[in-house]
Amino acid sequence: MSAAAIPMKETLVLEIPIPPEADTSIFSFGMASTVPRMQDSISGISHWLSHSQAQLHVLAPADHNASHVEAHMRKAYMNVTIHANQLPFAKRYVSLVEKLYKERSANTRWLVLVDDDTFFPSLASLASHFTRTYDPTVPLIVGAISDDLRVIEIYGMAVSGGGGIFISIPLAEQLLEKRVWSKCLALPNNEGDELLDNCLNIFTQVRPTFDSSLHQMDIYNGEGSSPEAGYLESGRKLLSIHHWKTWYDFNVSQGAAVAVATGDEGIFQRWLFEGDTVLSNGYSVVEYPRTGDYGGITEKELGEVEYTWNEGDPEELWRYVHMMGPLRPRKTSEKKRSARLVDAVEVSIHEGRALRQTYVEKSQINTVFRPRERVVELLWLF
Ligand SMILES: *[C@@H]1O[C@H](CO)[C@@H](O)[C@H](O)[C@H]1NC(C)=O
Ligand SMILES: *[C@@H]1O[C@H](CO)[C@@H](O)[C@H](O)[C@H]1NC(C)=O
Ligand SMILES: *[C@@H]1O[C@H](CO)[C@@H](O)[C@H](O)[C@H]1NC(C)=O
Repeated sequence: MSAAAIPMKETLVLEIPIPPEADTSIFSFGMASTVPRMQDSISGISHWLSHSQAQLHVLAPADHNASHVEAHMRKAYMNVTIHANQLPFAKRYVSLVEKLYKERSANTRWLVLVDDDTFFPSLASLASHFTRTYDPTVPLIVGAISDDLRVIEIYGMAVSGGGGIFISIPLAEQLLEKRVWSKCLALPNNEGDELLDNCLNIFTQVRPTFDSSLHQMDIYNGEGSSPEAGYLESGRKLLSIHHWKTWYDFNVSQGAAVAVATGDEGIFQRWLFEGDTVLSNGYSVVEYPRTGDYGGITEKELGEVEYTWNEGDPEELWRYVHMMGPLRPRKTSEKKRSARLVDAVEVSIHEGRALRQTYVEKSQINTVFRPRERVVELLWLF
């Protein structure tokens, strides 16, 4: 090991949207989970729930650590209550409607069912979007449709739980009517969101309103690859993302840490440098290498979403265009050099407080022209 001097670059001034004024007490969140799974998810949940005016209710099988986890989360300014519930998963999930309805406050407008791997980059943007777009005084259910037509073929035009399912109070009242509720809970489905969809279809005339800024992320690749890259490098406003610790491995809390400097609106925001390098804040720094007239990335490509899942199989692309289209083909590693976020910590430097992000490219190819690893360090002054 030897020390290398890194030349300090000039400070850049970047523009980031100001967060919208929003009342987050309109949301009451509910999760059907287990206490150990909650423990694993705290850092992700903390980003969006902590210091908000929203409340969270968790239904989990009895666990002697429950009060410990609850106290720990409350200390971190999350308004959470863990309720012991022994029902099988799907019934426990749908029971959240009743629990959230009973526990609602005078401000609650939306009962929101989420998974423990659902993530909201900006709760303020989510609340502002809901306040501007929907009328909570009528029976409504709002959520994400699956990204995959094959899933829709099997489960129907249902809202998918992972993107967040938003139920208005009047719809909850319809479902909780005595003659409906007991029959609804007696339906035989094993998946929570599927059971809820069945209840709607059988007992109400209300059908889902699909919101394209909420994301179930039914996208998958083989082990160790990164299906999420296309989404998180899309530059689109993603109000929810899902599967961050199940179908892919991305530490959302590390990604969102930059909010201390940029605010929540700066998370996953993109910047293009010199026509060939794109920063997707909190996720990656990508160079699209130029050789002569080739390479770089075009305006058109930046408006499209890279098809980074399902092994990029062009034959299967039709399954996904309804949600994130227009899509563009996956780039080979020759045409796309990705450095991924591996660390994000607050540091004190000469100029003041900063959030230091470290992005690392682990290249498979090792030649003189293309060294194996590259590191990009960004210091966000605040
Ligand atoms: C309870 O939590 C502690 C630490 O948080 C952990 O070491 C222990 O394994 C947990 N016990 C159970 C039963 O999950
Ligand atoms: C948590 O939410 C409930 C319901 O809105 C409210 O009554 C309570 O005061 C909140 N607790 C904290 C610590 O904010
Ligand atoms: C994710 O990053 C946070 C710090 O931002 C850390 O506390 C947490 O342990 C990390 N989680 C995992 C699973 O590595």
